[in-house]
Amino acid sequence: MKHRVWLWAALWSGLLLSVPTALAGSSPDGEAIYQKACAACHGPRGTGNPRHDVGFEAPLPDFSNCDFASREPNADWIAVAHEGGPVRAFSPMMPAFGEALSVAELRAAMNHIRSFCTDKSWPRGEFNLPRAQVTTKAFPEDEVVWEMRIPDGEPDAFLNELIYEKRFGARNQLEIAVPVDWRETSDPAADNQWRSGVGDVKLGLKRVLYDDLELGAIVSGIAEVSLPTGDEADGFGAGTTISEISLAYGQILPADSFFQGQLGMEVPANGDKANEEAYLRMAAGRSFFLERWGRPWTPMLELVATRENAPAAETAWDAIPQLQIMLSQRQHVRLNIGWRTALTNDTVRDDQFMVYLLWDWFDGPLTEGW
Ligand code: HEC
Repeated sequence: MKHRVWLWAALWSGLLLSVPTALAGSSPDGEAIYQKACAACHGPRGTGNPRHDVGFEAPLPDFSNCDFASREPNADWIAVAHEGGPVRAFSPMMPAFGEALSVAELRAAMNHIRSFCTDKSWPRGEFNLPRAQVTTKAFPEDEVVWEMRIPDGEPDAFLNELIYEKRFGARNQLEIAVPVDWRETSDPAADNQWRSGVGDVKLGLKRVLYDDLELGAIVSGIAEVSLPTGDEADGFGAGTTISEISLAYGQILPADSFFQGQLGMEVPANGDKANEEAYLRMAAGRSFFLERWGRPWTPMLELVATRENAPAAETAWDAIPQLQIMLSQRQHVRLNIGWRTALTNDTVRDDQFMVYLLWDWFDGPLTEGW
C-alpha cells in the first residue's frame, strides 16, 4: 500500500514538473535567438559592437540607452528585423531576417532586446499614438508641428502655429507654440486689406503621471500659459495672460485602434478680456496598412466640447473628421488634414479647414529617411 502512494506521488510530481518545462520549450528562447542572430553586430549587451569588429561604417544603435530604445514600438523594430533596415530607410547593413526567423521568434528576440534598458520609468513608444488636430497627446514628444487653419467665413484669415516640443528626463516635455497669422481687415476703406502678426505665445510643461503597457493606458498632466504677445487691437491676441491646466489620456485598443482624451480648463488673468472655460476633447481612430510592413493611414474622429464658466452658458460641440498620412519611409514626417464643423450653435462658429505637418525630429533630419 505504502509504496503505491509513493509511486503515485512520484508520477504526479514528475508530470507537474515536466509540464512547465514543456510549455517553456514551445515558446522561442529570445535570448538564444538574439545571441545567435543579432549579437555579432549588436553586441552581447545590445550596445553595438565596435566598428573594427563588425567591419562596416554604419553606426549601430545602443539598445541599453533607454532614451533611444523606449521610444521605438515593438511593431517598428519587428518590421526592421523582418524586412531589413531599408524598410524604415535605415542602412542595408541591418539584414532582413524574414526568411530565417518567424515573427514569433523575432518578437522573442525583441523581448530580450527590451531587457537591455533597465530603467522602467521611460514610457514606451507604443503610447505615441497618432496626433489628433486639437486633443493633446499624453506621450512626451520631440516634435516640430506646423499647424494651419483656414476658417470658412468672413473676413478671411490664414492662421498658423509653429509648435516645438522637447522631452527632458524620462517623463517630461517642454513646449513652446508661436502663432503667426494673416487676417483680412473688416474695414473696406483700409489701404492694405491683409495684416500679419505674431499671436499669443504659449509655453507648456507635460509630465507623464501614469503608464501601464499591459493595460495600454497612459495619463499625463499638462500646465500651460499663454502670454499676451499678440496685438489685441488687430485681433492677433487675447490681451491677457491665460493659464491652462489639463489631463491627457491615451488608450491603446485592439486592431491598431486607439482613444485619446483631454479634460482641462483655461483661466484668464483679466476676466474682461477672455472667458474662463472648461473643455473636453476626444479622438478615436484606427491605423490601416496598405502593405504589411508599410506606412499607416489613420482616419480619426475628434469631438471637442467647450463650456464657458457662466451660469447660463451652453456647451459648444464641434466635430473634426480627419486623416493622418505618413509621408516619410522613416515614419517621422506626417500630414493630417481635417475639417472642423460646429454641431451646436453653428451660427456662432465658422467651419475650419485644418492641416498640420509633423516632424518627429528625434528619428532623423527632415532631409533623411525618404
Ligand atoms: C550584420 C550586422 C547586423 C546584424 C546581424 C543585425 N543587425 Fe540590427 N542593425 C544593424 C545596423 C548597422 C543597424 C543600424 C541601421 C541604421 O541606423 O541605419 C541596425 C539596426 C537595427 C534596428 C533598428 C533600430 C532603430 O534605429 O530603430 C533593430 C530593431 C535591429 N537592428 C534589430 C536586429 C535584430 C533583432 C537582429 C537579430 C535578429 C539584428 N538586428 C541583427 C546591423 C545588424
